[in-house]
Amino acid sequence: MPEAVAATSYGTTADVIDVISVEGREPGPGEVTIAVRAAAINPFDTKIAAGVLGTDAATLPRRLGSEAAGVVVAVGPDAVGLEGEPLSVGDEVYGNRLPGAQATELTVRADVLLRKPASLSFEEAAGLLSVGTTAVHALEAVGVGAGDTVLVHGVAGSVGSLVAQLAALRGATVIGTAAPARHAALRAAGIEPVAYGEGLADRVRAAAPGGITAAIDTVGTDEALEVSLQFVKPERFVTIVNFGPALAAGAKAIGAGPGADSGSELRAAARVTLSGLAARGEITVPVATALPFAQAREGYRLVIGGHAGGKVVLTN
Ligand SMILES: NC(=O)c1ccc[n+]([C@@H]2O[C@H](COP(=O)([O-])OP(=O)(O)OC[C@H]3O[C@@H](n4cnc5c(N)ncnc54)[C@H](OP(=O)(O)O)[C@@H]3O)[C@@H](O)[C@H]2O)c1
Repeated sequence: MPEAVAATSYGTTADVIDVISVEGREPGPGEVTIAVRAAAINPFDTKIAAGVLGTDAATLPRRLGSEAAGVVVAVGPDAVGLEGEPLSVGDEVYGNRLPGAQATELTVRADVLLRKPASLSFEEAAGLLSVGTTAVHALEAVGVGAGDTVLVHGVAGSVGSLVAQLAALRGATVIGTAAPARHAALRAAGIEPVAYGEGLADRVRAAAPGGITAAIDTVGTDEALEVSLQFVKPERFVTIVNFGPALAAGAKAIGAGPGADSGSELRAAARVTLSGLAARGEITVPVATALPFAQAREGYRLVIGGHAGGKVVLTN
Protein backbone atom coordinates (compact mmCIF):
# COMPACT_ATOMS: atom_id res chain seq x y z
CA MET A 1 0.00 0.00 0.00
CA PRO A 2 1.36 3.50 -0.81
CA GLU A 3 2.38 5.77 2.03
CA ALA A 4 2.09 9.54 2.33
CA VAL A 5 3.23 12.31 4.66
CA ALA A 6 0.36 13.99 6.47
CA ALA A 7 -0.44 16.30 9.33
CA THR A 8 -2.44 14.13 11.72
CA SER A 9 -3.30 17.17 13.84
CA TYR A 10 -2.68 20.90 13.32
CA GLY A 11 0.26 22.54 15.06
CA THR A 12 3.49 24.48 14.63
CA THR A 13 5.93 21.70 15.55
CA ALA A 14 7.00 18.68 13.55
CA ASP A 15 5.25 16.44 16.07
CA VAL A 16 2.05 16.77 14.01
CA ILE A 17 3.73 15.07 11.02
CA ASP A 18 3.27 11.35 10.38
CA VAL A 19 3.62 8.84 7.58
CA ILE A 20 0.25 7.20 6.87
CA SER A 21 -0.97 4.45 4.53
CA VAL A 22 -3.12 5.65 1.63
CA GLU A 23 -5.13 4.08 -1.20
CA GLY A 24 -3.44 4.01 -4.59
CA ARG A 25 -5.50 4.25 -7.77
CA GLU A 26 -5.20 3.51 -11.48
CA PRO A 27 -4.56 6.53 -13.71
CA GLY A 28 -7.63 7.84 -15.57
CA PRO A 29 -7.66 9.74 -18.88
CA GLY A 30 -4.81 12.26 -19.04
CA GLU A 31 -3.20 10.88 -15.89
CA VAL A 32 -0.14 8.85 -14.95
CA THR A 33 0.99 7.10 -11.81
CA ILE A 34 4.55 7.77 -10.69
CA ALA A 35 6.72 5.97 -8.19
CA VAL A 36 8.05 8.95 -6.28
CA ARG A 37 11.80 8.95 -5.81
CA ALA A 38 12.09 12.37 -4.15
CA ALA A 39 9.65 14.97 -2.79
CA ALA A 40 10.58 18.40 -1.45
CA ILE A 41 9.40 19.91 1.81
CA ASN A 42 8.60 23.60 1.37
CA PRO A 43 7.95 26.08 4.19
CA PHE A 44 4.37 26.34 2.92
CA ASP A 45 3.85 22.67 3.83
CA THR A 46 4.80 23.52 7.42
CA LYS A 47 2.35 26.44 7.32
CA ILE A 48 -0.46 24.14 6.14
CA ALA A 49 0.41 21.76 8.99
CA ALA A 50 0.24 24.77 11.33
CA GLY A 51 -3.29 25.51 10.10
CA VAL A 52 -2.88 28.44 7.69
CA LEU A 53 -5.55 26.94 5.40
CA GLY A 54 -7.80 26.03 8.32
CA THR A 55 -7.81 23.71 11.28
CA ASP A 56 -11.05 21.81 10.77
CA ALA A 57 -10.49 18.36 12.27
CA ALA A 58 -12.60 16.91 9.45
CA THR A 59 -9.72 17.71 7.03
CA LEU A 60 -7.32 15.43 8.96
CA PRO A 61 -5.17 13.59 8.19
CA ARG A 62 -4.12 16.31 5.76
CA ARG A 63 -1.69 15.15 3.09
CA LEU A 64 1.24 17.44 2.38
CA GLY A 65 3.67 18.34 -0.38
CA SER A 66 3.37 19.83 -3.83
CA GLU A 67 6.50 18.87 -5.76
CA ALA A 68 8.09 15.57 -6.56
CA ALA A 69 10.24 13.65 -9.02
CA GLY A 70 9.85 9.99 -9.93
CA VAL A 71 9.37 7.29 -12.53
CA VAL A 72 6.15 6.67 -14.47
CA VAL A 73 4.76 3.22 -13.56
CA ALA A 74 1.30 3.37 -15.17
CA VAL A 75 -0.23 5.50 -17.93
CA GLY A 76 -3.88 6.41 -18.54
CA PRO A 77 -5.32 7.18 -21.99
CA ASP A 78 -4.03 10.37 -23.65
CA ALA A 79 -1.44 11.12 -20.97
CA VAL A 80 0.59 13.97 -22.44
CA GLY A 81 3.27 15.78 -20.42
CA LEU A 82 3.68 19.52 -19.98
CA GLU A 83 6.11 19.68 -22.89
CA GLY A 84 3.51 18.15 -25.24
CA GLU A 85 4.91 14.62 -25.54
CA PRO A 86 3.02 11.43 -24.58
CA LEU A 87 4.40 9.89 -21.39
CA SER A 88 5.33 6.19 -21.14
CA VAL A 89 6.12 3.73 -18.38
CA GLY A 90 9.74 4.20 -17.31
CA ASP A 91 9.90 7.93 -18.06
CA GLU A 92 11.62 10.02 -15.39
CA VAL A 93 9.45 13.04 -14.64
CA TYR A 94 8.96 15.84 -12.16
CA GLY A 95 6.56 18.63 -11.36
CA ASN A 96 5.45 21.14 -8.76
CA ARG A 97 1.68 21.36 -8.91
CA LEU A 98 1.11 17.95 -7.41
CA PRO A 99 -1.26 17.89 -4.43
CA GLY A 100 -0.05 15.55 -1.69
CA ALA A 101 3.29 15.04 -3.44
CA GLN A 102 5.06 13.68 -0.35
CA ALA A 103 4.05 10.08 -1.04
CA THR A 104 5.60 6.86 -2.26
CA GLU A 105 3.22 6.76 -5.23
CA LEU A 106 1.15 9.48 -6.91
CA THR A 107 -1.54 9.43 -9.58
CA VAL A 108 -1.61 12.89 -11.14
CA ARG A 109 -2.44 14.85 -14.28
CA ALA A 110 0.26 14.22 -16.84
CA ASP A 111 0.14 17.78 -18.17
CA VAL A 112 1.89 19.19 -15.10
CA LEU A 113 4.88 16.84 -15.45
CA LEU A 114 8.15 17.65 -17.19
CA ARG A 115 10.75 15.13 -18.27
CA LYS A 116 13.57 15.08 -15.72
CA PRO A 117 16.83 16.13 -17.38
CA ALA A 118 19.36 13.30 -17.08
CA SER A 119 21.87 15.69 -15.54
CA LEU A 120 19.57 16.42 -12.58
CA SER A 121 19.21 14.03 -9.65
CA PHE A 122 15.69 13.18 -8.49
CA GLU A 123 16.39 15.25 -5.36
CA GLU A 124 17.42 18.30 -7.38
CA ALA A 125 14.45 17.97 -9.74
CA ALA A 126 12.03 17.67 -6.81
CA GLY A 127 13.38 20.92 -5.39
CA LEU A 128 13.68 23.10 -8.49
CA LEU A 129 10.29 24.36 -9.57
CA SER A 130 8.55 25.97 -6.59
CA VAL A 131 11.59 28.02 -5.63
CA GLY A 132 12.63 28.60 -9.24
CA THR A 133 9.26 29.91 -10.40
CA THR A 134 9.01 32.12 -7.30
CA ALA A 135 12.48 33.50 -8.01
CA VAL A 136 11.62 34.27 -11.64
CA HIS A 137 8.44 36.04 -10.50
CA ALA A 138 10.34 38.10 -7.90
CA LEU A 139 12.95 39.20 -10.44
CA GLU A 140 10.25 40.15 -12.95
CA ALA A 141 8.26 42.01 -10.27
CA VAL A 142 11.11 44.45 -9.67
CA GLY A 143 12.51 44.30 -13.20
CA VAL A 144 16.03 43.10 -12.44
CA GLY A 145 18.43 43.37 -15.37
CA ALA A 146 22.02 44.09 -16.35
CA GLY A 147 23.55 46.87 -14.29
CA ASP A 148 21.30 46.37 -11.27
CA THR A 149 22.68 45.78 -7.79
CA VAL A 150 20.16 43.60 -5.99
CA LEU A 151 19.87 43.10 -2.26
CA VAL A 152 18.48 39.60 -1.58
CA HIS A 153 17.27 38.99 1.96
CA GLY A 154 17.90 35.31 2.75
CA VAL A 155 20.30 34.75 -0.13
CA ALA A 156 21.45 31.33 1.15
CA GLY A 157 17.89 30.02 1.48
CA SER A 158 16.14 27.93 -1.13
CA VAL A 159 14.32 30.77 -2.92
CA GLY A 160 17.16 33.21 -2.22
CA SER A 161 19.72 30.96 -3.89
CA LEU A 162 17.65 30.77 -7.08
CA VAL A 163 17.01 34.52 -7.01
CA ALA A 164 20.76 35.12 -6.79
CA GLN A 165 21.65 32.71 -9.59
CA LEU A 166 18.97 34.02 -11.94
CA ALA A 167 19.85 37.64 -11.12
CA ALA A 168 23.49 36.93 -12.00
CA LEU A 169 22.40 35.37 -15.31
CA ARG A 170 20.57 38.64 -16.04
CA GLY A 171 23.81 40.54 -15.49
CA ALA A 172 23.00 41.93 -12.04
CA THR A 173 25.33 42.19 -9.05
CA VAL A 174 24.03 40.38 -5.95
CA ILE A 175 24.40 41.36 -2.30
CA GLY A 176 22.60 39.18 0.19
CA THR A 177 21.86 38.66 3.86
CA ALA A 178 22.82 35.36 5.46
CA ALA A 179 24.14 33.89 8.70
CA PRO A 180 27.92 34.59 9.01
CA ALA A 181 28.78 30.88 8.74
CA ARG A 182 27.60 30.98 5.11
CA HIS A 183 29.57 34.03 4.02
CA ALA A 184 32.69 32.28 2.70
CA ALA A 185 30.66 29.97 0.45
CA LEU A 186 28.58 32.90 -0.79
CA ARG A 187 31.68 34.94 -1.65
CA ALA A 188 33.03 31.95 -3.57
CA ALA A 189 29.78 31.96 -5.55
CA GLY A 190 30.23 35.63 -6.46
CA ILE A 191 27.71 37.00 -3.95
CA GLU A 192 28.64 39.75 -1.50
CA PRO A 193 27.26 38.59 1.88
CA VAL A 194 26.14 40.74 4.80
CA ALA A 195 24.89 39.57 8.18
CA TYR A 196 21.26 40.32 9.00
CA GLY A 197 20.29 41.96 12.31
CA GLU A 198 21.13 45.23 14.10
CA GLY A 199 23.24 47.53 11.89
CA LEU A 200 22.20 45.92 8.59
CA ALA A 201 21.78 49.23 6.76
CA ASP A 202 25.37 50.24 7.53
CA ARG A 203 26.70 46.90 6.36
CA VAL A 204 24.71 47.14 3.13
CA ARG A 205 26.08 50.64 2.54
CA ALA A 206 29.63 49.37 3.04
CA ALA A 207 29.09 46.33 0.81
CA ALA A 208 27.49 48.37 -1.99
CA PRO A 209 29.13 51.80 -2.10
CA GLY A 210 27.44 52.41 -5.45
CA GLY A 211 24.01 51.76 -3.93
CA ILE A 212 21.28 49.18 -4.26
CA THR A 213 18.83 49.40 -7.16
CA ALA A 214 16.37 46.62 -6.22
CA ALA A 215 15.61 44.46 -3.19
CA ILE A 216 13.98 41.04 -2.90
CA ASP A 217 12.80 39.75 0.46
CA THR A 218 12.57 35.97 0.92
CA VAL A 219 12.63 36.19 4.74
CA GLY A 220 9.69 38.34 5.81
CA THR A 221 11.13 40.43 8.62
CA ASP A 222 10.22 44.09 9.07
CA GLU A 223 13.99 44.67 9.08
CA ALA A 224 14.18 43.48 5.47
CA LEU A 225 11.45 45.91 4.43
CA GLU A 226 12.63 48.90 6.44
CA VAL A 227 16.31 48.61 5.53
CA SER A 228 15.53 48.03 1.85
CA LEU A 229 13.35 51.14 1.66
CA GLN A 230 16.30 53.21 2.84
CA PHE A 231 17.94 52.30 -0.47
CA VAL A 232 15.25 51.69 -3.09
CA LYS A 233 11.88 53.13 -4.07
CA PRO A 234 8.90 50.99 -2.95
CA GLU A 235 8.22 49.80 -6.51
CA ARG A 236 11.65 48.16 -6.58
CA PHE A 237 11.09 46.15 -3.41
CA VAL A 238 9.24 42.84 -3.48
CA THR A 239 8.51 40.38 -0.69
CA ILE A 240 7.37 36.78 -0.92
CA VAL A 241 6.43 36.63 2.78
CA ASN A 242 5.65 39.94 4.52
CA PHE A 243 2.63 40.91 2.43
CA GLY A 244 0.65 43.37 4.60
CA PRO A 245 3.47 45.71 5.65
CA ALA A 246 5.02 45.72 2.17
CA LEU A 247 1.75 46.59 0.46
CA ALA A 248 1.03 49.26 3.07
CA ALA A 249 4.40 50.84 2.21
CA GLY A 250 3.53 50.88 -1.49
CA ALA A 251 5.93 48.01 -2.25
CA LYS A 252 5.20 44.72 -4.00
CA ALA A 253 4.09 41.34 -2.68
CA ILE A 254 3.89 38.15 -4.72
CA GLY A 255 2.40 34.72 -4.07
CA ALA A 256 -0.81 33.48 -2.51
CA GLY A 257 -2.22 36.06 -0.13
CA PRO A 258 -4.51 39.08 0.09
CA GLY A 259 -3.38 41.84 -2.25
CA ALA A 260 -0.42 39.87 -3.57
CA ASP A 261 0.18 39.15 -7.25
CA SER A 262 -0.15 35.38 -7.76
CA GLY A 263 1.68 35.50 -11.10
CA SER A 264 0.13 32.14 -12.00
CA GLU A 265 0.72 32.39 -15.76
CA LEU A 266 4.23 33.79 -15.44
CA ARG A 267 5.19 31.04 -12.99
CA ALA A 268 3.60 28.31 -15.11
CA ALA A 269 5.50 29.49 -18.17
CA ALA A 270 8.79 29.63 -16.25
CA ARG A 271 8.86 25.86 -15.58
CA VAL A 272 10.16 24.82 -18.99
CA THR A 273 12.75 27.62 -19.03
CA LEU A 274 14.00 26.64 -15.58
CA SER A 275 14.21 22.99 -16.60
CA GLY A 276 16.42 23.94 -19.53
CA LEU A 277 18.68 26.14 -17.42
CA ALA A 278 19.09 23.37 -14.84
CA ALA A 279 19.69 20.73 -17.53
CA ARG A 280 22.53 22.85 -18.94
CA GLY A 281 24.01 23.46 -15.49
CA GLU A 282 23.34 27.21 -15.70
CA ILE A 283 21.49 27.03 -12.39
CA THR A 284 21.83 24.52 -9.58
CA VAL A 285 19.33 23.45 -6.93
CA PRO A 286 20.68 23.90 -3.40
CA VAL A 287 19.75 20.54 -1.86
CA ALA A 288 20.86 20.82 1.77
CA THR A 289 19.50 17.56 3.16
CA ALA A 290 17.99 14.40 1.71
CA LEU A 291 16.27 12.10 4.19
CA PRO A 292 14.47 8.79 3.77
CA PHE A 293 10.71 9.15 3.59
CA ALA A 294 10.31 7.50 7.00
CA GLN A 295 12.19 10.44 8.53
CA ALA A 296 9.67 13.02 7.29
CA ARG A 297 9.21 14.41 10.78
CA GLU A 298 12.94 15.20 11.02
CA GLY A 299 12.75 16.90 7.62
CA TYR A 300 9.87 19.07 8.80
CA ARG A 301 11.85 19.94 11.93
CA LEU A 302 14.68 21.26 9.74
CA VAL A 303 12.40 23.36 7.55
CA ILE A 304 10.46 24.76 10.53
CA GLY A 305 13.82 25.76 12.06
CA GLY A 306 14.30 28.22 9.17
CA HIS A 307 18.03 27.67 8.65
CA ALA A 308 18.21 24.43 6.67
CA GLY A 309 20.61 26.05 4.18
CA GLY A 310 18.67 24.95 1.11
CA LYS A 311 16.10 22.36 0.12
CA VAL A 312 15.11 19.52 2.41
CA VAL A 313 14.02 16.56 0.31
CA LEU A 314 12.43 13.22 1.23
CA THR A 315 13.57 10.19 -0.75
CA ASN A 316 12.07 6.77 -1.45
N1 LIG B 1 5.13 34.01 -1.94
C1 LIG B 1 5.54 32.93 -2.57
O1 LIG B 1 5.18 32.69 -3.72
C2 LIG B 1 6.49 31.99 -1.89
C3 LIG B 1 7.05 30.92 -2.59
C4 LIG B 1 8.00 30.12 -1.96
C5 LIG B 1 8.34 30.38 -0.63
N2 LIG B 1 7.72 31.39 0.04
C6 LIG B 1 8.08 31.69 1.43
O2 LIG B 1 9.38 32.25 1.42
C7 LIG B 1 10.05 31.94 2.62
C8 LIG B 1 11.42 31.36 2.31
O3 LIG B 1 11.28 30.11 1.68
P1 LIG B 1 12.56 29.21 1.41
O4 LIG B 1 12.09 27.96 0.80
O5 LIG B 1 13.61 29.99 0.73
O6 LIG B 1 13.04 28.93 2.94
P2 LIG B 1 14.45 28.45 3.47
O7 LIG B 1 15.18 27.66 2.45
O8 LIG B 1 14.19 27.83 4.81
O9 LIG B 1 15.29 29.79 3.69
C9 LIG B 1 15.04 30.62 4.79
C10 LIG B 1 16.00 31.80 4.74
O10 LIG B 1 15.67 32.73 5.77
C11 LIG B 1 16.88 33.19 6.37
N3 LIG B 1 16.56 33.65 7.73
C12 LIG B 1 16.02 32.92 8.74
N4 LIG B 1 15.83 33.73 9.83
C13 LIG B 1 16.23 34.98 9.45
C14 LIG B 1 16.24 36.26 10.08
N5 LIG B 1 15.81 36.43 11.35
N6 LIG B 1 16.70 37.32 9.38
C15 LIG B 1 17.14 37.19 8.12
N7 LIG B 1 17.16 36.01 7.46
C16 LIG B 1 16.69 34.93 8.12
C17 LIG B 1 17.79 32.01 6.31
O11 LIG B 1 19.11 32.46 6.40
P3 LIG B 1 20.32 31.71 7.18
O12 LIG B 1 20.04 30.23 7.03
O13 LIG B 1 21.53 32.17 6.46
O14 LIG B 1 20.21 32.15 8.60
C18 LIG B 1 17.45 31.44 4.94
O15 LIG B 1 18.17 32.10 3.95
C19 LIG B 1 9.11 31.01 3.40
O16 LIG B 1 8.38 31.79 4.34
C20 LIG B 1 8.18 30.49 2.34
O17 LIG B 1 6.91 30.09 2.85
C21 LIG B 1 6.82 32.21 -0.56
